Amino acid sequence: MPRPIISPSVLASDFGQLTAECSRMIKGGAEWLHMDVMDGHFVPNITMGAPVLSCVAKSIPGIFMDCHMMVEHPEKWVNDIAEAGGALYCFHIEATSDPLSLIKAIHEKKMKAGVAISPDTPSTAITDEIGTAADMLLVMTVYPGRGGQKFLERCVPKVAELRARFPDKDIEVDGGVGPKTVHSCAEAGSNVIVAGTAIFHADSPEAVILSLKEAVST
Ligand code: DX5
Ligand code: ZN
Repeated sequence: MPRPIISPSVLASDFGQLTAECSRMIKGGAEWLHMDVMDGHFVPNITMGAPVLSCVAKSIPGIFMDCHMMVEHPEKWVNDIAEAGGALYCFHIEATSDPLSLIKAIHEKKMKAGVAISPDTPSTAITDEIGTAADMLLVMTVYPGRGGQKFLERCVPKVAELRARFPDKDIEVDGGVGPKTVHSCAEAGSNVIVAGTAIFHADSPEAVILSLKEAVST
């Protein structure tokens, strides 16, 4: 299985202190930072876009921004996110009719490509061709749109299905994941853990990052 990676979702941070919050997570042991980009169309909320990501990248050199694009027309933002310093561009398969061309465009901009599936989308929506072309597969364990929701255990079998088909790929889970819910994700084969509320609202984010990492390392 690929290496364990913890990717705190900055949606749960204090946006007034965004860059300091991001630095705090890296110092606390996080490998990646999960940047939730919402456009008010694919999901009802609006969060942040390339200008904000660019500020984060400039203030924390070398940061790996795991950009979760909850947007319509995801092909529209590839250039902007690449120029802002995005390292991984993860789009929703529900939002595009041509995922293979989009993966190619993301790779041409030197970013890793991720493909996300929402709770009602089966794992088979990620065909062998798409899964092979992508670098990461994201199984949403809440409906995309906001942080702090309850973990949907029924999504976990999709992690196992994808792990069986793609043994070497990064498989990420996102939504309601924390020290209590991480174990079933880890057992199913997820190696990239996103957690917002569980990390940012904890007394010791470092301790939560460590416990999540231990859960996916065993
Ligand atoms: C939901 C976002 C998630 C969310 C995770 O639409 O994609 O990344 O912020 O936050 P928690 O861990 O609080 O569910
Ligand atoms: Zn997310």
